[in-house]
Amino acid sequence: MIVNVGIFGATGYTGVELVKLLGRHSHARIAFAHSESHAGARLSEVLACPFDIPLVSADDAPLHKADVVFSCLPHGASAALCKRALDAGRRVIDLSADFRLRDAATYAHWYGHPHPYPDLLPLAVYGLPEVHRREIAQAQLVANPGCYPTSIILGLLPLIEAGALADPLVIADSKSGVSGAGRKPSLTTHFVEVNESLAPYSIGRAHRHLPEIEQMLNALRPGVPPEPIRLIFSPHLLPISRGILSMIYLRINALREDVLTLFNRRYADEPFVRILPAGQIATIAHAAHTNYAVISVHPVAELPDRVQIVCCIDNLVKGASGQAIQNMNVMFGLDETEGLR
Ligand SMILES: NC(=O)c1ccc[n+]([C@@H]2O[C@H](COP(=O)([O-])OP(=O)(O)OC[C@H]3O[C@@H](n4cnc5c(N)ncnc54)[C@H](OP(=O)(O)O)[C@@H]3O)[C@@H](O)[C@H]2O)c1
Repeated sequence: MIVNVGIFGATGYTGVELVKLLGRHSHARIAFAHSESHAGARLSEVLACPFDIPLVSADDAPLHKADVVFSCLPHGASAALCKRALDAGRRVIDLSADFRLRDAATYAHWYGHPHPYPDLLPLAVYGLPEVHRREIAQAQLVANPGCYPTSIILGLLPLIEAGALADPLVIADSKSGVSGAGRKPSLTTHFVEVNESLAPYSIGRAHRHLPEIEQMLNALRPGVPPEPIRLIFSPHLLPISRGILSMIYLRINALREDVLTLFNRRYADEPFVRILPAGQIATIAHAAHTNYAVISVHPVAELPDRVQIVCCIDNLVKGASGQAIQNMNVMFGLDETEGLR
């Protein structure tokens, strides 16, 4: 079986990562690669990569040749081209934030403009295979999760599902490599600004990924708890190209099993979640250039109701293009690990 793939935004960091990963996939073929500002050029002429693929404008993209279209565009621009692909009967995996939030008013609040297609929001499946595998298999539109949200949700999932949170206030301290900000240059991602520093930004409850994370965590909670889970989130820009480390702090109820056993049991059948043995600490190097989320679990000495979780991913792979291919594999009934190991 061959899945024909269209890519909107092939000239960005997630787009070129997708091209690279698809090149190793035995059941995928690129039907078109899009760029608006470099239409007519070849991918290898636009950025330093070996992929000699022609780039087409959105108006010239042969949608009829694609079984699935990935959108690697900025939020705002993405929704319109996703709609165009859906109207042409294609299945769509959107790497932007345009279809991740269930509520159009929440989207408008965080993204600064009304959602252009609120009617499509109920159609979108949040593309975290560890939670929504069955729904992804049937989906016409998959909202691929954000990079920070992937690292935080996977780091909390077993405890949330087990109803183990003693305190609905969760603290997540996250560090990301600079490719997380995309290829377009800006002063804050300029080499000299980033190099040899570590910069917190959008701390507290100011980052756009906050509502996405809280939406998922609260949906995963069993029963109807009195208070919603609330997050204090501290993202940082780390002077490396790729990778995310999230350190999560929480207070838990007494459990029938230890936290490490709970994590090992919950993720036993997950091909892309690796739980480290007791005593080891996850690092970005464990996960970089792979589709794995690598997690370590740390009870806090002398404070039996406290635990720290470390979850590391590669923002461009499990945090974006790798997870998108994992979703494609699920949607088309392929081996979920195809092209990703
Ligand atoms: N970077 C990450 O780690 C990461 C992780 C998860 C999700 N995401 C999300 O994935 C999406 C892509 O991120 P990225 O980091 O790959 O971005 P990027 O490096 O800035 O690339 C953006 C791409 O979109 C195209 N583009 C920009 N503005 C456009 C417009 N108005 N209309 C049509 N095309 C436009 C650009 O193509 P041309 O300029 O060549 O036309 C380029 O191919 C974003 O929504 C981002 O939030 C990123």
